[in-house]
Amino acid sequence: MVSCNRGAVVSNVRCIGAGYVGGPTSAVMALKCPKVQFTVVDIDSKRIDAWNSDNLPVYEAGLDDIVRARRGVNLIFSTDIDNAILDADIIMIAINTPSMEKDDRLGAAADLRGIKQCIQRIAQVARHYKIIVERSTVPCRTGDIISNILRENCHPGVNFDVLSNPEFLSEGSAIRDLLYPDRVIIGGLDGTEGAQNVLRSIYSRWVPEERIVTMGLWSSELAKLASNAMLAQRVSSINSISAVCEAVGADITEVARGCGLDARIGSQFLQASVGFGGTCFHKDILSLIWLSESLGLRDVAEYWDQVLKMNESQMCRFVRRIMNEVEGSLEGTRIAVLGFAFKSGTGDARNTPATQICNQLLRQGANLFIYDPKVPDEQIRDNLAGELDSRESQLHICHNAYDAIAGSQIIAILTAWKEFQAIDWVKAHSQMIQPAYVFDGHRLLDGLSLERLGFHYASVGTPSKGGSKYPNHILE
Ligand SMILES: NC(=O)c1ccc[n+]([C@@H]2O[C@H](COP(=O)([O-])OP(=O)(O)OC[C@H]3O[C@@H](n4cnc5c(N)ncnc54)[C@H](O)[C@@H]3O)[C@@H](O)[C@H]2O)c1
Repeated sequence: MVSCNRGAVVSNVRCIGAGYVGGPTSAVMALKCPKVQFTVVDIDSKRIDAWNSDNLPVYEAGLDDIVRARRGVNLIFSTDIDNAILDADIIMIAINTPSMEKDDRLGAAADLRGIKQCIQRIAQVARHYKIIVERSTVPCRTGDIISNILRENCHPGVNFDVLSNPEFLSEGSAIRDLLYPDRVIIGGLDGTEGAQNVLRSIYSRWVPEERIVTMGLWSSELAKLASNAMLAQRVSSINSISAVCEAVGADITEVARGCGLDARIGSQFLQASVGFGGTCFHKDILSLIWLSESLGLRDVAEYWDQVLKMNESQMCRFVRRIMNEVEGSLEGTRIAVLGFAFKSGTGDARNTPATQICNQLLRQGANLFIYDPKVPDEQIRDNLAGELDSRESQLHICHNAYDAIAGSQIIAILTAWKEFQAIDWVKAHSQMIQPAYVFDGHRLLDGLSLERLGFHYASVGTPSKGGSKYPNHILE
């Protein structure tokens, strides 16, 4: 039970959607509010079974310990959605909002069907007042859609307040982000101040007051889309400069440092890579493009579209670079792919750059030996299924880095897992076909040391030895 400063009492918080957001968020809340009962429900019974097992469906450092401590105490995972709705004081909606089919010019609207279905159910089942909290990333003014569905379908006399409370966690550091958030945004329309205070009273158990920010509902919804768009834009910006670095002989780490020391720019999120992935950046930019186009803001839509194009081009450039440096066909070449998750610290491979890069390498006839410490084998196979029809024999999934490396001629680092830094590179070199290449998509390794061992080393954002293509005429 949590009392807020207006005297309202919260005993039961429910979360609909037991995914990467719903599970970890509810677990951290349950940890910090031991007197409140949290129930996480989902239509996917396999996912709920996994949350109730020792093999959680989401990998995040620290998550297992929290779930183990709170599960069965004040944290329950269940498929009984109606019962969860009935006694809830607060219902958080953390359902996936994937992109609808993409239109080349218009971007793609977010698919809100899951959210609408679940709001309909809440309206039909609820018998007393509830606070409905949007935790999913949704287009601006989704709050209107939710309020209308509730109003049109609820039992007489049952009222709701709708709030927006977007989640800003980053996969790979989700628990840290939830425990120490930069900010918690609570958005609501005029008249929902009481409900905003109730939600604030939950967060104030562990988040400093100055970090809990209230604002209008539409601003809160848009702040989440805009944050993701700006983060993705930063990745594309530094990656665009990495292409210039490779051509002129500059070093992207030095350039990023030179930029990041300017306090207005800041140093975070300036690491060049093979590009961004995951479920959020791409879909949220598509949603922003859709919104902008729908509002007749063509220039705005085109501006954000370019961030996506840059990301695609970075992945293609990585494959082209492998082909250029090896100077020959990749047909039959054995490549050790180290890392498949869209980033380190997570087993999530949804929309990972590795899918596109591996597909292109398979198309070139390469034999891929893929190792990722956390991504399940079947996920890797699912991601590459489209390309595999006639190429099944080119794909091999390994369960440690050395199995992937031994007998390969090329290593491609596609996820920045720290454990790759601890590889015994002398041993690795001795087991590879010569000349041995390392293509480092995350600037994770010490290139000089590898070159001393005899590797050809190339990383995103630095030209290979003798590889700068600076054309003299530019200075003439
Ligand atoms: N993954 C992230 O890092 C992250 C971070 C911030 C925000 N978000 C946003 O949060 C939302 C959820 O993301 P996620 O990664 O947790 O998604 P997810 O796919 O991992 O989980 C969503 C869950 O919702 C369930 N679901 C779908 N429809 C349902 C329904 N009608 N009733 C009950 N359950 C239903 C699905 O079965 C699934 O288990 C998305 O809008 C996403 O953009 C994600």
